[in-house]
Amino acid sequence: MEAAPTYHQQISVSWAFPVLFTRHLFAPENPVLRETASRLNEQRRHRAIVYVDSRILERDPSLSQRVEAYFAAHADSLSLAAEVQSVPGGEACKNDLRYAESVMRQLLELRMDRQSYVIAIGGGAVLDSIGFAAALVHRGLRLIRVPTTVLGQNDAGVGVKNAVNYLGKNALGTFAPPFAVLNDFEFLRSLPDRDWLSGVAEAFKVAIIRDRAFFDDLCQAAPRYPARDFDAMTDLVARCASLHLDHIRTNGDPFEYGTARPLDFGHWSAHKMELLSNFAISHGEAVATGVLLDSIYAESKGWITAAELDRIDTGLRQSGFALWFDVLELRDADHLRLVFAGLRDFQEHLGGELCVTFPRGIGARFEASEIDMEAMEAALLELKRRARAV
Ligand SMILES: NC(=O)c1ccc[n+]([C@@H]2O[C@H](COP(=O)([O-])OP(=O)(O)OC[C@H]3O[C@@H](n4cnc5c(N)ncnc54)[C@H](O)[C@@H]3O)[C@@H](O)[C@H]2O)c1
Ligand SMILES: [Zn+2]
Repeated sequence: MEAAPTYHQQISVSWAFPVLFTRHLFAPENPVLRETASRLNEQRRHRAIVYVDSRILERDPSLSQRVEAYFAAHADSLSLAAEVQSVPGGEACKNDLRYAESVMRQLLELRMDRQSYVIAIGGGAVLDSIGFAAALVHRGLRLIRVPTTVLGQNDAGVGVKNAVNYLGKNALGTFAPPFAVLNDFEFLRSLPDRDWLSGVAEAFKVAIIRDRAFFDDLCQAAPRYPARDFDAMTDLVARCASLHLDHIRTNGDPFEYGTARPLDFGHWSAHKMELLSNFAISHGEAVATGVLLDSIYAESKGWITAAELDRIDTGLRQSGFALWFDVLELRDADHLRLVFAGLRDFQEHLGGELCVTFPRGIGARFEASEIDMEAMEAALLELKRRARAV
């Protein structure tokens, strides 16, 4: 019999996108958005549609007019395909797939094409759901993210993926690098205290596993974050964003084909806490708690010292985090803690073996493929003891 041929196909695609920091993005004299849209030197007027987090519009209703005035001032190179759209802020826009579907319908009805821009202005949740919709329409429109929370600017907004919640947290989504990320610090001023602090958890997370000097600086600055020190926070945002970008660029697995996901240190329990609380606990609050839980476990295994653990604990607490939630006590009919199912969910999300990141000293990490559940139970009890002790 004649051998059927086997063709070995290999392609590579390189992605490049600017992540830049500015202030007053929509001031008519600010060239950043116009220059970003024109950065490929295509000699034409760029069509765009702008989606804005509803909570921002509630606090600053004039933003829509400022966006429209910006487009009018730059009408030679930009045009708005529709009036500015309001998106339900927070997890609500990720929790109902019908929302992303309505956005996709609108993009198709407006005949947005693969060279048109979808500009998403908002917290990580809005960026995720609009990014999800933009990635599916015509297999990917150009997405310009304008993150407006600390967590959005230092983590969620600078990465390469999007998602909506469907049966599980982030269960539907794609890897889709944005066309550009424009971080405007001025948006951070209107954040409620809780959302102002949320992103500090991600900074501790990435510093603990990658950057000891950054961790030292975070511990020192910690009391300044709940005091709403703007300079301290913008410094944190810029350094943390840069660490996330370095990690995604250099770790060799930007689209997470392997089982390791170091940026999810502390997240297996965090995602479960969010779900168990029906999202009453924010992502950042859950991450701070999950990071401390896994740090307590790491100390019990000798991977970090007791002094290092105490610095993590103090740094997070001084940053304003509660570091305990009663959902951690919830149990199923067999009396097993529901949060521990987070380990199984985490494994299923990534596929393959269980792979959980822990610090090894501060500033370094390794992946564990097994969790000693007795030691994790002890860590959880210690987490509770520490919360009660303050
Ligand atoms: N795609 C990724 O790589 C990635 C990474 C990390 C987190 N995430 C996702 O990001 C989400 C969390 O993001 P988040 O912490 O930004 O929370 P969020 O998007 O829920 O925003 C928090 C709250 O702040 C409001 N808000 C946003 N900007 C505001 C502003 N400037 N002024 C006043 N209010 C404002 C929002 O409406 C919301 O109520 C989660 O869904 C998480 O899963 C995604
Ligand atoms: Zn996170």
